[in-house]
Amino acid sequence: MCGIVGYIGRAEATPILLDGLRRLEYRGYDSAGMALLEGGTIKVRKSIGRIQNLAQVIADEPVAGSLGISHTRWATHGEVTNENAHPHFDKSGRLALVHNGVIENHQTLRMRLEEGGHVFTSQTDTEVLAHLIGEAFDRRGELSQAGLVEALREALRQVIGTYGIAALHADVPGVLVGARRGSPLVLGVGRGEHFLASDVSAVVNHTREAVYLKDYEIVALREEGFEISTLAGSDASFEVSKVEFTAGDVDKGTYPHYMLKEIHEQPATVQDALRGRLSREEATVHLGGLNMSNAELRDVERIVLSGCGTAFHSAMIGEYLIESLAHLPVECEFASELRYRNLPMTRDTLVFVISQSGETADTLAALRESQRKGHRTLGICNNVASTIARESDGGVYMHAGPEIGVAATKSFTSQLTIMTLLALLFGRIRHLSYGEGMGIISELEKLPDLVAKVLELEKHVATVARKYARAENFLFMGRQANYPVALEAALKLKEISYVSASGHPSAELKHGVIALVSEETPSIFIAPQDAVFAKNLSNIEEVKARKGPVIAVGTEGDTELERVADDVILIPKAPDYLTPILASIPLQLFAYTIAVERGCDVDKPRNLAKSVTVE
Ligand code: G6P
Repeated sequence: MCGIVGYIGRAEATPILLDGLRRLEYRGYDSAGMALLEGGTIKVRKSIGRIQNLAQVIADEPVAGSLGISHTRWATHGEVTNENAHPHFDKSGRLALVHNGVIENHQTLRMRLEEGGHVFTSQTDTEVLAHLIGEAFDRRGELSQAGLVEALREALRQVIGTYGIAALHADVPGVLVGARRGSPLVLGVGRGEHFLASDVSAVVNHTREAVYLKDYEIVALREEGFEISTLAGSDASFEVSKVEFTAGDVDKGTYPHYMLKEIHEQPATVQDALRGRLSREEATVHLGGLNMSNAELRDVERIVLSGCGTAFHSAMIGEYLIESLAHLPVECEFASELRYRNLPMTRDTLVFVISQSGETADTLAALRESQRKGHRTLGICNNVASTIARESDGGVYMHAGPEIGVAATKSFTSQLTIMTLLALLFGRIRHLSYGEGMGIISELEKLPDLVAKVLELEKHVATVARKYARAENFLFMGRQANYPVALEAALKLKEISYVSASGHPSAELKHGVIALVSEETPSIFIAPQDAVFAKNLSNIEEVKARKGPVIAVGTEGDTELERVADDVILIPKAPDYLTPILASIPLQLFAYTIAVERGCDVDKPRNLAKSVTVE
């Protein structure tokens, strides 16, 4: 949450920073600000609301300079006001700082600083950091890069919490500094210019060479170079990585919204999740990143899957898939719960944490807690440079490319594809025959085409969605692996349309949910032709008997659903283990259309942020 961008070079910083902030807006967008060094003093511009508002403030009152820092905020401490928007300043007003993270001991530090005569102008935890660094800098009196870095080091040693920061000081005009602990920070390496950002997508327009900072590292950047050191004071080793994607990958292209673009990318992203991983020769899956031999995989007797939000729904579907194809007991748990639970885990338990961003604070904490207890803990991530990807003992990358829309879409189906791969892998190690393995591989190979076929339903889904776009409450129902699909569909709708929506196992309807059924409340049933189809059909009848409108997602060729449901969306026939992927896509389109119809900001829903780096 919160995005930071810093620039030092020869170009005009403002357009670079504004463009970077726009690309980071998914990390938070309640207010934004920028500080530039102009003629020996720091000029600041701030605005509440979107980056566009900040751009307008700057257009009205321009600033110039080639050294600057900027920030887009997702409020944690202090309301959404101009005063609380970053950058924040120290006592002298000559140091400006932007921050992503939470300073847990900010109250204690603030009291101490106030006693020493520091006056605070915001309610943020961040302002404490600015004062602390400024205080250390002034005390040392060294107006140099080394002086600023030492001041940073001294201040950060007093801090408990998480931070990704960028700062500049008017007395050290050729230097931009940054540091990280717990919140991501990447350094963009240019020619005669350098960048700092929370995410590489903010700078990929300018450079594709990046250094991903590690926790407890401090960086000092100049036009012509940079130095990375540790909080303890020694030089740090680093690697310059080539960014895999291009600026084009993080553009909307011809689509009106990132979400729609990302929904349409799914035939390719599902293909990318499969690419090079299916072995026809052995009728199994190769996932080298797991860093486990077949013998070690054979010893796994239980799997724990964890994540937050959409990633948790993938875990729930993974539970069904792995249990049915591999006959392995699986438990899934919200990462925010797992980290504080004392879940009995035997030695042969294998833990997977699932996270698109690889930065979700609760998921990272669950990973660390599991590792602390000595469990091998693997990550399923999209962001290859993320903290979870780095800290896990191995894992599987989604390879879905950057996902910018706050509502997860393509990352979800990539996660489900990986869940199927894991189910096949564990199944083949345990009881699935060569023939059965080959059968699953053949089905998986068809998956990208089936996904493309589902997307052909776009117009029909939009027509259905428009019909119900004014409803204020939606019920989503499914059974077995399609129950979490119902949860995910409800989450998508809530996130981007702000209507009340809930997901339930179809049979639970009569245990309470049915009280909500009315002519105004549409029920969406995920009812493909599977072993529980007839049961779903009865549940649909129960809703219809109470005059509830029903939309059914069924299998192509189905004629029974038409008879009972008001509207029917038919997806291609596929084995049960692939249906969740195919059923999810029309429901993504359904949520998208309703949000557009209701005039909601699809890519940046209110109160949300894509990457939740606070607990
Ligand atoms: C936030 C996002 C969700 C996402 C969840 C987990 O809440 O708004 O869309 O599913 O975080 O994110 P992760 O990056 O860990 O998959």
